[in-house]
Amino acid sequence: MDNNEIDETRPDITHGHIHWYPGHIAKAERKLKEKIVLVDVVIEVLDARIPLSSCYNDIKSLLGEKPRLILLNKIDLADDAELKTWVKILENKTGCTVFVCDAKNSKNLNSIISKVVELSEPRIQKLMAKGLLRRPSRVMVVGMPNVGKSSIINKLTKAGKTKVGAKAGVTRQQQWVRINPRLDLLDTPGIIPMKQPDQDKAMRLAFVNSVSENAYSTEMVAKELLKVLSKKYSQRIKSHYNIKDEDELTVENVAKSRNWIVTGAQPDIERTSTFLLCDFRDGRLGKVILDEIEEPAI
Ligand code: G4P
Repeated sequence: MDNNEIDETRPDITHGHIHWYPGHIAKAERKLKEKIVLVDVVIEVLDARIPLSSCYNDIKSLLGEKPRLILLNKIDLADDAELKTWVKILENKTGCTVFVCDAKNSKNLNSIISKVVELSEPRIQKLMAKGLLRRPSRVMVVGMPNVGKSSIINKLTKAGKTKVGAKAGVTRQQQWVRINPRLDLLDTPGIIPMKQPDQDKAMRLAFVNSVSENAYSTEMVAKELLKVLSKKYSQRIKSHYNIKDEDELTVENVAKSRNWIVTGAQPDIERTSTFLLCDFRDGRLGKVILDEIEEPAI
């Protein structure tokens, strides 16, 4: 794409704000709805480091009455001390079952499979009551970019392996995998458009790489990340970067402590910001949850 062209699939946070493109979001939602009608139950994947910010506000209007299993993924990167509380908060707010998940390292997602089968059973029973033969229930995985949808699909698919191809009356491009005799999985995820009108939450989505890096200034996002980390994890981050207790946790101070200096003895903000974001995203700054428990309902 030409650099000067506006990519409407990307929010723009270069000036400290994210601008949304309603036309694109409507199109993405339409595509998602086309897939959702094909399934009996939906697995919604959230990033456990930002359990509220990675929620899609309009999920209910997308799903209607369709049952949903919420997976808080990437728990290997999330603050254990708060995780259980967040599961309860989400269960209370959504009325859905909430499971935690580490799609990168866990070998067995059987509990997810069983739960999905259980959630879809009333719908299958309804179809049978209308005289149709029992069929495997159909599930798809949805979520914002980078929350781990594909990793979860891969792990679930390994449990099944049989491609069952296109279904009669169903768009040809949709491929299904038979996970077990009771469950078929749509093998492509439903990407929820990154729509987050709350600027603080949108920034947190940028921290965890759910916003395209082309769409923001690394320096700005790294600076905001340190501000948010300072609230709960200041001591830990300072000791990671050898910053004195009495000094502020800033990109400049991280640069100085690492001795990343550019001409004129100035801190190398660009380099430091890139490293900071990588350190955070790869878990080198420790396990965190960045959303605040007292935040209002989703
Ligand atoms: P998406 O489909 O929702 O966009 O996400 P995807 O599965 O592609 O995962 C995005 C990144 O997050 C991948 O890392 C993936 O390995 C990682 N990931 C997924 N689930 C977990 C998890 O539970 N814990 C951790 N720590 N990471 C997880 P990547 O660096 O982009 O790719 P790769 O280097 O792992 O191949």
